[in-house]
Amino acid sequence: MEQAALKYDFRSDTVTRPGAAMRAAMAAAEVGDDVFGDDPTVKRLEACVAETIGKEAGLFVPSGTQSNLIALMTHCERGDEYIVGQQAHCYRWEAGGAAVLGSVQPQPLENAADGTIALADIEAAIKPDDPHFARSRLLALENTIGGKVLPADYVQAATALAKQHGLLCHLDGARLFNAAVASGASPAQLALPFDTVSVCLSKGLGAPVGSVLVGSKTAIARARRWRKMLGGGMRQAGILAAAGLYALEHNVERLAVDHANARTLAQGLAKLPGLTVTAPDTNIVFVNVEASLAPAFASHLARHGIGIVSSYGSTRQRWVTHLDVDSEAVDYALSVASAFSPQ
Ligand SMILES: Cc1ncc(COP(=O)(O)O)c(C=O)c1O
Repeated sequence: MEQAALKYDFRSDTVTRPGAAMRAAMAAAEVGDDVFGDDPTVKRLEACVAETIGKEAGLFVPSGTQSNLIALMTHCERGDEYIVGQQAHCYRWEAGGAAVLGSVQPQPLENAADGTIALADIEAAIKPDDPHFARSRLLALENTIGGKVLPADYVQAATALAKQHGLLCHLDGARLFNAAVASGASPAQLALPFDTVSVCLSKGLGAPVGSVLVGSKTAIARARRWRKMLGGGMRQAGILAAAGLYALEHNVERLAVDHANARTLAQGLAKLPGLTVTAPDTNIVFVNVEASLAPAFASHLARHGIGIVSSYGSTRQRWVTHLDVDSEAVDYALSVASAFSPQ
């Protein structure tokens, strides 16, 4: 495929580059050896995220993948299982880490189009205490999932069902702040039914690195040991934590701008022939492209410097809005997309 230099990058909200003010905050960070517990900026970040999300303690980790793995290993022992959606990041997109490194068996279940897993499926998957079976230990949900905000009453019902059967609950809240801004609920409200929640600083919030896992003091003490074992103990990590603190202070409310840009993008693309667009709840737009147009449309976008993720022979595209694509980028993308004409 002919590829021009990327002009506007809609591939993911992970592509943002820290701006001058964030870099200045990083340069000025007070640091120490965090493995000794000496880094004041890391401590401040962990306390700040824990408080915002309404949990006792937090743990700064290098990535969302490691955060989810640590949570699964914190809750589940060897031979336990976690119930999870087929589309969930901590099942599908994390290289099987829970099974490989944690000896924890995933029990994946179908996600509906809105990201939910049917309650009846969850109930049927919870296994009785019988030596034939892995021990059902945890329900893992994701919010947002594929950019969709999980319905609040669904989360309530699914976590209540899990608890009724003695399961713990983990939330992959990589984009919890997007869910909060879109729904009007506070991050703490969304996190309330969960024992642990993982949030990412390096997605819509625009920090270069890092996630924070929050939960009870006991859970986070266990998690800290797993982080060390997985190689995630970082030394003068206050430089990175400072970017996270900056992001929390400056980049949460503005997620509403990304959501508005995603809506504009979706509405514009939906007008074009051959495209079927799912209306976004937050900052992720999925577009299905008629198979006969798909490769040529993907090349046309690439030729004009528009970065998107496309798969399945380019028939399914993902466009993500973020800090580094503003309304001008959306207008440009729409004008390029409108100018497409199949040969
Ligand atoms: C929902 C979700 N969870 C977890 C992750 C993992 O984060 P990381 O890329 O920092 O490992 C991602 C990454 O895109 C994600 O989208």
